[in-house]
Amino acid sequence: MSNDPKQRIFSGMQPTGSIHLGNYLGAFRNWVKLQDEYDAIYCIVDLHAMTIDYDPVDLERARIEAAKVLLALGVDPDRSLLYAQSQVPEHAELAWILGTLTPMGVLNRMTQFKDKTSAGHASNLGLYSYPVLMAADILLYRANLVPVGDDQRQHIETTRDLAERFNNRFGDIFPIPEPYIPTTSARVMSLTDPTAKMSKSDPQIRATVGLLDDPDIIRKRIRSAVTDSDPVVRYDTEAKPGISNLLEIMAGCTGRTIDSLVVEYGDGGYGAFKDAVAEAVVEELAPVKAGYTSITNGDVRAVLRSSGDRAREMVKPYQAEVHNAVGLKAY
Ligand code: AMP
Ligand code: TRP
Repeated sequence: MSNDPKQRIFSGMQPTGSIHLGNYLGAFRNWVKLQDEYDAIYCIVDLHAMTIDYDPVDLERARIEAAKVLLALGVDPDRSLLYAQSQVPEHAELAWILGTLTPMGVLNRMTQFKDKTSAGHASNLGLYSYPVLMAADILLYRANLVPVGDDQRQHIETTRDLAERFNNRFGDIFPIPEPYIPTTSARVMSLTDPTAKMSKSDPQIRATVGLLDDPDIIRKRIRSAVTDSDPVVRYDTEAKPGISNLLEIMAGCTGRTIDSLVVEYGDGGYGAFKDAVAEAVVEELAPVKAGYTSITNGDVRAVLRSSGDRAREMVKPYQAEVHNAVGLKAY
């Protein structure tokens, strides 16, 4: 047996909008799974949520809700940290330091900034430097692996790039983190427009399945998912994006391969296939709602408080090492 310490994983979620099936299949399911094998740190990234217009009262509600959903999914605060980013000021401080190493050209190429500003969000400095804060989140804890959905690929690339720039300039301090992205359902698409990602901020409620939705709502949403008019169930993201999305969702919920689903449902018509997808989703999400209602807001606050305290302690020696390396020795 090896005596090597466990490798570390870090991931974050924004406390905005309502948490959906894409978040679960793309990321949170892996957060729960990887706790056995890794030293896991999970963060409600409230500072990131401030980069688009928000309501302070709602931010507090959303932080609690996000943490409660993660606890209901099985994030275990005895083994993993679950806290809010603003509880550990070093996130913002490291972001400043990394910002001094970030070329403007790198940020100008970030697709999320372009997407958000073209969707009408104001282009403030926080939104522009969002990827630098995300890199700081990950590097602050020296994480090796980052479980996320496919939409975060570019951000992880930037994190790796900044870690390398830092190490080259100041010495080998940061491990270069790897993304951990599922092979199926890493990018769950909208149910009303299967060419767009399922998104927390989608104003069209029918586009998403919420993790806490009632079974009848889930069935209705899946049954009314936009598909095409050719009745054959097969995987083809160009010609049949809606059906391909439902195949990914069902594969994600059942652990079956897309090929085996195509063999079973290929010629049976869309109605029967959609019913089967709906039942698979209902079954997969049933325990989440039950867990969620049994956790109180007080329980959640206690977890955040104690994890936040532990996180603050954990980063002190790391940040001291960074300070020394960059020329900010303590007096
Ligand atoms: P966010 O909703 O942006 O806070 O994302 C939280 C996590 O869910 C991140 O790891 C995202 O990559 C992942 N995620 C968000 N939307 C989707 C989606 N439609 N499909 C798969 N993963 C997603
Ligand atoms: N940008 C991520 C998202 O929108 C959230 C996030 C912030 C994150 N910091 C992180 C994810 C660090 C992984 C690691 O989903």
